[in-house]
Amino acid sequence: MSEKAQESMARLEAMKAEARLGGGEKRMEAQHGKGKLTARERVDLLLDEGSFEELGMLVTHRSNLFGLDKQQFLGDGVVTGYGTIQGRLVYVFSQDFTVLGGSLAEAHAEKICRIMDLAMDNGAPVIGLNDSGGARIQEGVVSLGGYADIFHRNVQASGVVPQISAILGPCAGGAVYSPALTDFILMTEGTSYMFVTGPNVVKTVTHEEVSAEALGGARTHATKSGVAHLTVPHEVAAMDQIKSLLSYLPQNCEETPSSLPYSGLDEERPKLNGVIPENAQQPYDMRDVVKELVDEGEFLEIQPDYAANIVVGFARLAGRSIGVVANQPAVLAGVLDIGASTKAARFVRTCDAFNVPLLVLEDVPGFLPGTDQEWNGIITNGAKLLYAFSEATVPRITVITRKAYGGAYDVMNSKHIGADLNFAWPTSEIAVMGAKGAAEIIFRKEIAGSDDPAVKLAEKEAEYAALFAHPYRAASRGYVDEVIEPAQTRSRLIKGFAMLENKTVRRPRRKHGNLPL
Ligand code: HXC
Repeated sequence: MSEKAQESMARLEAMKAEARLGGGEKRMEAQHGKGKLTARERVDLLLDEGSFEELGMLVTHRSNLFGLDKQQFLGDGVVTGYGTIQGRLVYVFSQDFTVLGGSLAEAHAEKICRIMDLAMDNGAPVIGLNDSGGARIQEGVVSLGGYADIFHRNVQASGVVPQISAILGPCAGGAVYSPALTDFILMTEGTSYMFVTGPNVVKTVTHEEVSAEALGGARTHATKSGVAHLTVPHEVAAMDQIKSLLSYLPQNCEETPSSLPYSGLDEERPKLNGVIPENAQQPYDMRDVVKELVDEGEFLEIQPDYAANIVVGFARLAGRSIGVVANQPAVLAGVLDIGASTKAARFVRTCDAFNVPLLVLEDVPGFLPGTDQEWNGIITNGAKLLYAFSEATVPRITVITRKAYGGAYDVMNSKHIGADLNFAWPTSEIAVMGAKGAAEIIFRKEIAGSDDPAVKLAEKEAEYAALFAHPYRAASRGYVDEVIEPAQTRSRLIKGFAMLENKTVRRPRRKHGNLPL
């Protein structure tokens, strides 16, 4: 090597060491003191050992305003590059809070855009590790432009490659919209928050006193807003969750998720024969059914604490990735409301975009009545779920475990809206409504005019139940393909999804549909 080359190499090594130090030793310690890892530690934890290839390590900002010329940091506050997770290519950016608060400006944004472009060109997921004070105030409008460049790419990449956002520190102002445009948001408890306007602005405008945690912490977004799909106690768990999530998804929309090896053994699940209580009004936990049906009982539930009357998440069946959408009789009797409809619609569309087949477990008494629901738009929001199922082209199988009443029967992946197979357990009831409510309406006059209305109601209820509180009327029409013993469900699902493996559906050409937003 020439002397010049040796000098250049030595300079490079010095610069790399400087870049790795971010905003300096003290600031790294401060980061640890807050219970947070540094940007590089996070990347190391996320990716397969030694797989990370950094891009743009020596990039710096070009601003000299407000003394920024004296605050040049190699990498400009974000670590970007590519590597592998369980051997699969991924692109990653990790914001460095020790450098100018991880704030985003021109060069920082360009680095993120560069890896998003590469991810699109090469068909691989993008993972964003967010920890930033938002737009770099000193750089003004170029910071805003940088955000918009990222937002635009988020939208172009939507449904093309999986995009996962981990929120590991502050995420405020318009900055929240990049994660919001991605497929999944994961938040760490106690160390992350997201809001469009912070507590100070809230106080000025609405006079409400609220802490950052209460306004936009992980718990808030997991339970009240539904913004967070997953929450974790610390960053080590965050990286594990990202890996787990990715394992259910393909690299891009042209591929199918990879399967795990599977050797069919005994698929009987006798426990399922005892799941449905004798009393139709008694709840049970649908997650017990899910766990009994899927491989190893492993279920990655998405948004578990938001609209808990519907359960959504990923699992595997005979090694293949599936998305599960299940009414939850243990919460609000599994009724469909605005929250449940939008939660499930979003999940269905995510699965459909990435070729993850859908299993629907149905036990639903209908849509939730009331002024609150009507005035807040159960019509438009319920339609989202109807729309999402109707447009989904992935293999779709429904199992009706108990109630399938009213419009909810149609919406919950009925064959009428394109489900491929529909099974019903012997305990299922497929009707416009429950027997009591039905009898009260259609036999109102007869009941009122009888000597003993209570006895008459019971008699009419029994009459209606005998006609509809079973699956055989639906089966006689072919709306239900088969009534199956619960213990046989897993085996039937495995065969059904295998039969549907090469399903292809061609839709008429159009610019895009008009989902009722
Ligand atoms: C430049 C910033 C910065 C920012 C933080 N820093 N945010 N520098 N631009 N946006 C710097 C701080 O000056 C400080 O530098 C260092 O980062 C660490 O910040 P601290 O305040 O000491 O940390 P902490 O106490 O943990 O508080 C974190 C914080 C706070 C809550 C995020 O820094 C903060 O409120 N920052 C401003 C947030 C904000 O208003 N951003 C703009 C949002 S609007 P020194 O050198 O002193 O250590 C937006 C628009 C996006 O983002 C639009 C997209 C469409």
